[in-house]
Amino acid sequence: MNHFYYNNNVLFCEGVPVADIAAAVGTPFYLYSTETLTRHFRAFDGAFTLPHLTCFAVKSCSNIALLHLFGTLGGGADIVSGGELYRALKAGIDPRKIVYSGVGKSEAEMRFALEAKILMLNVESHQELQALQNVAAALGVTAPVSFRVNPDVDPKTHAYISTGLAKNKFGIPIQDALDSYLAARQMKNIEIVGVSCHIGSQLTDVSPFVESLQKVRCFTERLKEAGIHISCLDLGGGVGIRYKNEQPPLPAAYATALEQEMHGLDCTLILEPGRVIVGNAGILVTRVLYTKQGGKKFVIVDAGMNDLARPSLYDAFHAIQPVVRRGQEVEVADVVGPICESGDFLSRGKEVPLCAQGDLLAVMSAGAYGFSMSSNYNSRPRVAEVLVKGDSFHLIRRRETYEDLVAGEMIP
Ligand code: LLP
Repeated sequence: MNHFYYNNNVLFCEGVPVADIAAAVGTPFYLYSTETLTRHFRAFDGAFTLPHLTCFAVKSCSNIALLHLFGTLGGGADIVSGGELYRALKAGIDPRKIVYSGVGKSEAEMRFALEAKILMLNVESHQELQALQNVAAALGVTAPVSFRVNPDVDPKTHAYISTGLAKNKFGIPIQDALDSYLAARQMKNIEIVGVSCHIGSQLTDVSPFVESLQKVRCFTERLKEAGIHISCLDLGGGVGIRYKNEQPPLPAAYATALEQEMHGLDCTLILEPGRVIVGNAGILVTRVLYTKQGGKKFVIVDAGMNDLARPSLYDAFHAIQPVVRRGQEVEVADVVGPICESGDFLSRGKEVPLCAQGDLLAVMSAGAYGFSMSSNYNSRPRVAEVLVKGDSFHLIRRRETYEDLVAGEMIP
């Protein structure tokens, strides 16, 4: 459930007409609902009854205003870079609730994480472990470590966002992981705290999650036999959302299925949800610049693939809705941006609302991997982000300027 709805054919976000925000901040912009974010976070986090920690996946939507909100709701952060660590700390997230995933952490990033005293680093290779040992030794600290294991489970999602198959670059093959733990046990500056895995994103079925948890659970038995006890089991993120007519599991079904496999395991369950919290809590608002009839009908809008990459990158579906509904009429058209590539589209070959020059359109379900994957391609300043709370709205990131575009550049 979200808080974007029509009242007398006018699209609202909570108590605010979306068109009013467009008039105030210009277009395009990302718009998030505090009420929806809060509801989704609470529904997810509250579905678990066993000891657990919900670490929001910062990569899915990185604005510090949102991270701060999740922090106030008791959430932690799943980070994949020094930049994300910086954001999480800036947002006031408790470092003891931060887990650091990622296949290629640099030594500088490791140092930053150790100095910040985060909960754990999810290590993905033997070389990374050695590098971490060296960094920790140089700092005179102990690095809290979990190994990310690759359980070789098919998440049945888009190939680009599958991560738990043997052919994917992620983690250590689960059958080889015991060796990593045995090696870590010998290292002076490494403390083993957990095991982690993440098999993919936009999963609409719980069974791959259960299958990987069962494999991880068996693995923890092997660890126990070797005398290694862990206190954290991190199952990653990946719960899908409804973009069109998908039937993703409800938080309760997901939590119950996982908790059934957790019994007898004396571990805190760590979860790293991103999309399921923010996906349907955000939209991208754009304005129709022109319409034209070429080989087909094109609706040219002021947001492009640099602002929302998902349609171009994954052929992902995002519903397009009018901000002011004038009728029920639809037409088949391509909604395209100003970028000089034919792959620059927000919707292709589908029915969209009949619209005219100047109309505002809402690209729905754009909260996750929307702004966070946006770029300056074609030297387009990145768009504004706005957060609604009740009857008011707040600019949480100003639109970039042309000066911002060249701010770091120098002519030698
Ligand atoms: N944990 C780890 C280690 C991850 O790699 C990811 C996502 C998550 C958690 C959060 O997954 P979520 O709950 O959001 O599914 N750009 C793609 C999605 C890439 C996902 C990358 N990793 C998209 O737009 O669909």
